[in-house]
Amino acid sequence: MNEIKIFTPATVANVSCGFDVMGFCLDNVGDEMVIRKIDKKGVFITKIEGFDLPFEAELNVAGVSALAMYKSLNIDFGFEIEIYKNIKPGSGIGSSAASAVGSVFGMNELLGRPFTKTQLTEFAIKGEALASKCEHADNLAPALFGGFTLVKSVAPLQILELPTPKDLYATIIHPQIEIKTSESRAILPKQVPLGDAITQWANLGSLVHALHTSNYNLIKDALNDVVVEPHRSQLIPLFNEVKAACISAGALGAGISGSGPSIFTLSKGEKQAEKVKKVMQDIYAKSDIDFDIHVSKINTQGVKILG
Ligand code: HSE
Repeated sequence: MNEIKIFTPATVANVSCGFDVMGFCLDNVGDEMVIRKIDKKGVFITKIEGFDLPFEAELNVAGVSALAMYKSLNIDFGFEIEIYKNIKPGSGIGSSAASAVGSVFGMNELLGRPFTKTQLTEFAIKGEALASKCEHADNLAPALFGGFTLVKSVAPLQILELPTPKDLYATIIHPQIEIKTSESRAILPKQVPLGDAITQWANLGSLVHALHTSNYNLIKDALNDVVVEPHRSQLIPLFNEVKAACISAGALGAGISGSGPSIFTLSKGEKQAEKVKKVMQDIYAKSDIDFDIHVSKINTQGVKILG
């Protein structure tokens, strides 16, 4: 096999109470990429459609993760990468992670899978760091492994795969404003009051337990963020209104997707997720902010081969 076409998914990081450690994978939102073996040594980005991103491999998230892998190999050929980008950079649904994961996943397949998914995450983290100025894997892990993941530690990298309750659906609204991850990290306080830390780790532990036991009521109770959301929500127009309306319309919870501006909700059942979509839509339609909305089941496979 000399060429592979892949779907590399969007993801929701943090999931309210799991800042920098929890994430889940979306099913129908993502980028496509083509990775090709070539005779010339090196990594070359030959096509980018969708958004204006750099072609120089060292300046491109997909290129940086590909180079991290390439440098660990001793091979006499190279790779070309084509990127068909659907996930807007700065949207909060793992745009950079999708790119970083796609290149290393595709190369690994063409090489006969010498690397584990955790090793691929190690390479991809280099690309992610180019975009967010810090090494975190909470979007990368669900994009590679699928479902819900928890990053136990970054050094050494330890990723736990968590179960996905089968009726869980996400609704995501993406207001068309850009929030740079690096900026929305910069506004966060460096210290957390002990009381807030206790609430947060009780919620995160409860969320993990709820996923294991498909306990939707406990998911609802656990989806609360007292550490990050109070700061970042100020950057997202209509956040509080959308959150309150979605929860009163039956969503299990709502929060900031990654570093925003996207807002995610989780619902039990597709019908409920569609109802929440309508609620979000009605609120944003009254503003002058453009938006798009997705309803997605949780993608338990992660990045996929298309051909
Ligand atoms: N956990 C990261 C953050 C995700 O919230 O800054 C960014 O994509």
